[in-house]
Amino acid sequence: DMFAHPSTQQNLDRLRSFGNRIIEPAEGELASHLVGKGRMEEPDKIVAVLDDFFASQIQLEKKKIVITAGPTYEKIDPVRFIGNYSSGKMGFALAEACAGQGAEVTLIAGPVSLKTVHPNIKRIDVESAEEMYHAAMEAFPEADAGILCAAVADYRPDVQATEKIKRETKGEMTLLLVPNKDIAASLGAIKREGQILVGFALETNDETAHAEGKLKRKNLDFIVLNSLRDAGAGFRCDTNKITIIDKEGEATAYPLKSKQGVAVDIINKLATLLK
Ligand code: CTP
Repeated sequence: DMFAHPSTQQNLDRLRSFGNRIIEPAEGELASHLVGKGRMEEPDKIVAVLDDFFASQIQLEKKKIVITAGPTYEKIDPVRFIGNYSSGKMGFALAEACAGQGAEVTLIAGPVSLKTVHPNIKRIDVESAEEMYHAAMEAFPEADAGILCAAVADYRPDVQATEKIKRETKGEMTLLLVPNKDIAASLGAIKREGQILVGFALETNDETAHAEGKLKRKNLDFIVLNSLRDAGAGFRCDTNKITIIDKEGEATAYPLKSKQGVAVDIINKLATLLK
């Protein structure tokens, strides 16, 4: 009765609609001795099914993957910065999913309040675009792939005041901004034969044209496009709706999914290129 209850069934439907795979024993297989549907399976059988499931999912065994994630903060003075709304959730979901598929992950994270769980994730915390650039340039030459998920600030204040800037009595103030390095383009420029580089594009208009421009300009192998016009996509949410565009110009659109589900789609694409 508990299994048949609409709340339980709704939860299962919801998980399925987010692209999660629900492992259900085939009729007569694991559930053979069960009195009814929904009865808990013996724990050792659950473990055996999970082992099989994850063994069949290992697509990135020993691959070295560098991932950038989160926002960057560009310091104005000791108490203020220019930042953005990136939560880092997409990049962290990718890091966990890559590690779960056997990869050795270097996660270069901007300031976020997220934890890493998998032991095969080496995390490097940075604050500014400049720090992220140096960490990425150091890690990428050793890597099989780079996934550039961070929302990097394109500009930083040309001077960072060492003391707190006081309120001006005269009214307006001007901050002069100077450009940061483009991490994706810099890695694209040093990319070796066989290395794969994946970028993201969060757009509000002319999405495909902008994404294709970035793919070429940054020498990426594919780009993950999400549009702020789609509900449930982009910053500060747990879901995302993506289109993957590769350098052959092939575009694949995916339905709205959890960021974990989206990570699996991106990894499946990456795995076909790393083989
Ligand atoms: N990116 C990066 N370093 C930067 C800017 C962007 O590595 N300084 C990466 C992002 O992580 C993302 C891709 O480049 O994978 C596209 O980022 P986006 O901000 O959309 O690109 P821009 O070139 O900054 O384009 P614009 O701001 O004009 O849309």
